[in-house]
Amino acid sequence: MKFANVRTPIPGPEGEKLIGKWHEFEADVVGYQAPVVWKKAEGCVVEDVDGNTYIDWTSGVLVTNVGHCHPRLVEAANKASTELLNNYECANTYRIEAAERLVGALPDHLDRCFFLTTGSEAVEASLRLAKRKTGKFEILGFAGGFHGRTFGAASAGGMDGPKRRYGPSLPGTIRAPYPNPYRDPLGFCRGGKDFARYFTYLDDVVKANSTGSLAAVIVEPYQGASGFVFPPEGWLKKLELWAHERGLLFVLDEVQSSYGRTGKMWAMEHEELEPDIVALGKGIGSGVPVSAVCSNAAIFSCLNKGEMSSTLGGNPVASAGVTAVLDIFENEPLIENAAELGKSMKKELSRIAEKCPYLGDVRGMGMVMGLEFVRDKNDKQPAPELIRPVIDACAEKGLLVGAVGMFGNVIRVAPPLVMNKEQADESLGIMESVLTNIGL
Ligand SMILES: Cc1ncc(COP(=O)(O)O)c(C=O)c1O
Repeated sequence: MKFANVRTPIPGPEGEKLIGKWHEFEADVVGYQAPVVWKKAEGCVVEDVDGNTYIDWTSGVLVTNVGHCHPRLVEAANKASTELLNNYECANTYRIEAAERLVGALPDHLDRCFFLTTGSEAVEASLRLAKRKTGKFEILGFAGGFHGRTFGAASAGGMDGPKRRYGPSLPGTIRAPYPNPYRDPLGFCRGGKDFARYFTYLDDVVKANSTGSLAAVIVEPYQGASGFVFPPEGWLKKLELWAHERGLLFVLDEVQSSYGRTGKMWAMEHEELEPDIVALGKGIGSGVPVSAVCSNAAIFSCLNKGEMSSTLGGNPVASAGVTAVLDIFENEPLIENAAELGKSMKKELSRIAEKCPYLGDVRGMGMVMGLEFVRDKNDKQPAPELIRPVIDACAEKGLLVGAVGMFGNVIRVAPPLVMNKEQADESLGIMESVLTNIGL
């Protein structure tokens, strides 16, 4: 069976009309995407307004982990919406059940959560919590980190996009390098499992920049927006130890790495991390807008009543979504599929990379992989100019992909975790035919 079927130019006639109309009313300020107007989607297959179908490697942006419009999720959100749409800070049955289920699904040391709506908000809440708990105000983040576009989250991050030309970042944010095995001019990924060179440097960074009021370290298990950069094995565990030895809270931003994406329910499981605070988003609602900050009772107890609150957080529809998503994870082998199919897709992509002179690196785990494009595989000069042609050519053949990267030169491979072997093979075939025909 063929899942992708594109019968019109992209955009098709109806799509072109609608995109024109869209930009007449909503500011055209989002990033570049294939010019496709989505009409509906199921599992891994998206249909546009011209009746074309595509295999999806985006999951929105790593959101629809359980597959687009999973019937169980749709039913749960529909049911809740007919009963109660919002009740602010008050209890509702959906919220209570979602909290119990989420805490039950988290590693044991995380026994409290609080619901919010976006990933940025969950990060802001995490940082506020860390500052209140420690009574300190500085945050250590990483070059290339992305934690959202609100001011605290953008300040903690280390990408220029959300910050440049917006005036000063929040005072008290310190950034250190994130070890990148593909680009490692200073040798931070080398030196054995203690990463002595890296952590000596990190101490120097803190000494040079901190006023002595460091509260927490915030880090992504892999850097998403800056190009799906995975640190060397063992580095995160060492970072956690380093933080705890210095009395710092360890905050893990699992907004995009959780809910099976890396082949485990939580990315923190790979190295048995025990973060003090975890930010969740995206996959937690798999399309229903919800996020959460998770920690333990002792940490949350530093807040007085009313210090954390949200207009929409914990609303019945979002909460029903949280529970339905966890039900789906309990009943379907999504995590195993992400791990196994992801592994074979990565192998196949690595084979394709040998045939494409510009595909410098294929990296990742589970259903989150990055394809980094370079002008030359030896000097690794980034080739962002190849990204739009790849996105467009893939869409023309029926595959939806998006881009990320510090240099804007990385294609995301992040399908919904329900992708099957036939869909994987068909979409890999499309990618291969695109990559063997691109040129600078
Ligand atoms: C790791 C990480 N943190 C936070 C965010 C921000 O989430 P949101 O866009 O829902 O505010 C993102 C979004 O891409 C993310 O990838």
